[in-house]
Amino acid sequence: MIINLQTEVDLSPFHTFGTRQVAKYLVKVSNLQELESALDFAAKEEVPIQILGEGSNTLFKNDFSGLIIVVAFRGIVYDCSQNVLQISAGENWHGLVKHTLGRSLYGLENLALIPGSVGAAPVQNIGAYGVELKDFFFSLSAYDLEQRRVVEFDKTDCQFEYRDSVFKREGLDKFLITRVSLKLYDEPRPILGYPDLNGLDSDADGESENISLKIYERVCEVRRRKLPNPAILGNAGSYFKNPVIPLTHFSLLRQKYPEMPAFKADKPDEVKLSAAWLTDFVGAKQKKTGGAAVYKDHSLVLINESNAHGEDVYLLGQEIKADVRNEFGVLLLEEVQII
Ligand code: FAD
Ligand code: EPU
Repeated sequence: MIINLQTEVDLSPFHTFGTRQVAKYLVKVSNLQELESALDFAAKEEVPIQILGEGSNTLFKNDFSGLIIVVAFRGIVYDCSQNVLQISAGENWHGLVKHTLGRSLYGLENLALIPGSVGAAPVQNIGAYGVELKDFFFSLSAYDLEQRRVVEFDKTDCQFEYRDSVFKREGLDKFLITRVSLKLYDEPRPILGYPDLNGLDSDADGESENISLKIYERVCEVRRRKLPNPAILGNAGSYFKNPVIPLTHFSLLRQKYPEMPAFKADKPDEVKLSAAWLTDFVGAKQKKTGGAAVYKDHSLVLINESNAHGEDVYLLGQEIKADVRNEFGVLLLEEVQII
């Protein structure tokens, strides 16, 4: 029997755009038994399901006529036999970062203050300030929603790439991640290459432990300065991914736009462009659709400025995408999951 089922639910508190779309049903699940009851209910009612963590990378374009399953599995355990930290999917990511530093486990400090749940972190291989989840990933447990059984994924199975994994492609909507295992360092190994972290090594008083805390504090400070707080202004961080294009295409673009920034991509014959620069160039910050707008200090962040509908945000994104394609011949891909 399904417990704590909610009906006709205003989703605005469940996702960081805060638009007022409605779900027919919503349930929070804290263990496998509750998950199985929820799946039985959806099957009986013949409605689709949608997995949700903290909704910080999700746009509800319209109302949802199925069952939202909010992942609320809790707990953090250190597995000494494998030397890994096992974290239940419903734990808060930033809470985990603080927990690890408090336990003198290092590596996640560059990923401080990324909103959302631990279970969603592998979905897009979260990343910031020179570090990605995959750098510390060991394995995960997921519930196969078709086969109705728990399966294990190692790092290769997850197919991690920049803001991408198997869970955004073939595995989309097929697995509910219940637990993530990470292998962290027992002493700091600072990653200081990102420009915003410049100068921190000389600033750390030579104390090795201090440097991880300094990175943590700097990352939090930079993020608070650059990005709007979703509790105050609805947003989902970067709406688009930074596009990766062939070097040959970039050489042509550089002739026309000599100031266009570009970064190293994973493959030597490709470059990563700055989606923020491209969207800024086409005047994104001046655009609005209904209640949706672009954040004044960051052209990649679409915001719910005043009572936006999910579709306002979507249409604004589409307009910016078309402008970038017309100007540069570059296709932007949404980072945000659109429901
Ligand atoms: P949700 O939005 O709830 O879900 C996202 C997707 O994952 C959905 O498709 C959902 O179905 C799926 N999903 C969620 N939980 C599970 C699960 N347990 N099992 C299977 N699928 C699941 N991201 C970065 O990578 N780097 C950043 O620097 C960054 N900065 C941000 C800043 C701000 C202000 C905001 C609002 C967002 C930012 N993001 C960033 C995006 C977001 O924080 C991450 O994508 C985060 O991992 C989303 O977690 P969530 O629980 O909110 O996911
Ligand atoms: N820029 C502009 N206009 C703006 C803002 C930025 O032209 O309004 C240009 C500047 O030249 C700046 C460059 O864009 O130097 C890069 O900006 P920023 O340092 O903010 O990084 P980003 O590429 O926009 C990425 C991630 C962020 C992550 C930061 C730090 C993507 C899509 N975004 O942003 O992740 O926090 O780097 O590592 O990869 C997210 O995924 O939601 C997210 C916020």
